[in-house]
Amino acid sequence: MPRALLLPGITLVRLGVCVLLALVLQFGLATEVSTTTAERTDAVRQFYLPTRVITGLGCFSRIAEVVRDYGERTLFVCGQGSLRRSGALDQAVSDLQRAGIGTAVYDAVDGEPTLNMVQAAVDLARQEEVDVVIGIGGGSAMDVGKAAAALCTQEGRVQEYHRGRSLSGPGLPYVSVPTTAGTGSEVTNNAVLTDLERGVKKSMRGERLFPAAALVDPRLTVSLPPDITARSGADALCQAIESFVAIGAQPPSDGLAGEAIRLIGRSLVRAYEQGSDVDARSDMLYGSLLAGMAMTNTRLGGAHGVASPLGLGYHIPHGVVCGLLLPHVMEYSLEHGLAKYAKVARLLGVETQGLSAREAAQQAVIVVSRMMSRIGMPSHLSGFGVKREDLAGIIDQAVPSANLKNNPRPLGAEDLQIILERAL
Ligand SMILES: [Fe+2]
Repeated sequence: MPRALLLPGITLVRLGVCVLLALVLQFGLATEVSTTTAERTDAVRQFYLPTRVITGLGCFSRIAEVVRDYGERTLFVCGQGSLRRSGALDQAVSDLQRAGIGTAVYDAVDGEPTLNMVQAAVDLARQEEVDVVIGIGGGSAMDVGKAAAALCTQEGRVQEYHRGRSLSGPGLPYVSVPTTAGTGSEVTNNAVLTDLERGVKKSMRGERLFPAAALVDPRLTVSLPPDITARSGADALCQAIESFVAIGAQPPSDGLAGEAIRLIGRSLVRAYEQGSDVDARSDMLYGSLLAGMAMTNTRLGGAHGVASPLGLGYHIPHGVVCGLLLPHVMEYSLEHGLAKYAKVARLLGVETQGLSAREAAQQAVIVVSRMMSRIGMPSHLSGFGVKREDLAGIIDQAVPSANLKNNPRPLGAEDLQIILERAL
C-alpha cells in the first residue's frame, strides 16, 4: 500500500470498503431492480471505492511525490490538447525525471477512446517496461490509460477483454489526472471504449480498473474552452442526477451525488460564461469527482442507457447527448421518484416550500432544461440527423444496457420510443 501523503494545502481522502452485501440473495437484488422505485430504502447495497484521492489547487505539481509510491518507470497517456500545448505536461515529465522516474509518453488519444488506442498504449508500456501508468486529460485519455494499465499485464489482445474475457490478475497501478470536469473517470471502475472493427461502444468494468490514485487539480481546467466546459459539465450533471435518483442509490452515494448536484448546479453556467473563475472551476471538478464516486457504485439511468448508440451512430459527443436527453428522461420518470426529484430541485437552488412533491419535482426538470439551454446544449436529436425511422435501430442497440433497468422508472423499448420521439 502507498504511504500516506501529507502535503500542505492538499487533502487526501482514502475510502475503503464500507458495506458488505451480506443479504443480497435473501433480498434478491436482481428482482429489486424491476420492482422498486428509487425511494425505497430497504435494499441492501455495497459502496466501494479504493482510489486514493488528492485534491487542491496546484496539486498536480506534486505528481512526482505521488507516482513515486507506485513505480520507477511511467507511461503518460494523453491527447494533444491544451495541457500539452501549455507546457504543463512537459513540466510534469521533467519533474518526474528529476525525481528519478523514467517516462514514456503515448499522446495519440484523439476523440472517442478506441481499442486501437488502448492496444498502442499497451504495446508502448510493454516495450518501455513501465511499472505505472498515468492517464491525463478528459474522459477519453483517462479511459485509455485506465484500460491500458489493466491490460498490459494480460496475455492476448485488447479486443478479447473488451468482448468479455476475464482479467487473470492485477494490472499496473494507474494514476488518473482529470483536466475536464465531466466523466468522473478518475475514480470509476470502468472504461468506455469503442471497437471500431465491430462498431461497438461499451464499457470494460471491474474492480481491477479502479485507479490507484487520482490527482484532482481545478487549476488544470481553467483554460478549457466554453464548448468543452459545457458538454463535459452536462455529462457531470447528468451523472450526478442519474446516480442520485437511481434504483441502485444508497446512503453513501446519496451524500456524494447530492453534493455533486449542488456544486454543479451553482457553478455550471458560471464556469461556462467565466472560465477563469477558479471557484466555479473548483465546484465543477469536485462535483464531477463526487458524481464519479457515487455512480461507480449506483450505475446510471436512462440518458446514459441510450447515449452510446446515439453517440456512436451520429457522432454526437457523449456530454451533448446526455445533456439533451436528461430533461426528457427526468420528465418521463418523475412519477416514479417524486421525493428524490423534489430534492434535486432543492439542491439546484429552487425554493420548494409550499409546493407539492410533484410541483417541486417538476421544477427540477425546468431548472435542468434552463441550464442546458444557457450553456448552449442542442435541444433536438434531429439536428444531428436522427430520423424517426432510425429510432427502432437505436432502441435495439440500447435495450441491453443495464442503466435502463436502473432508471427510477425502468425503461423498455416502448418507453425509449416515447422519450426519443420527444427528443427528436
Ligand atoms: Fe457520462
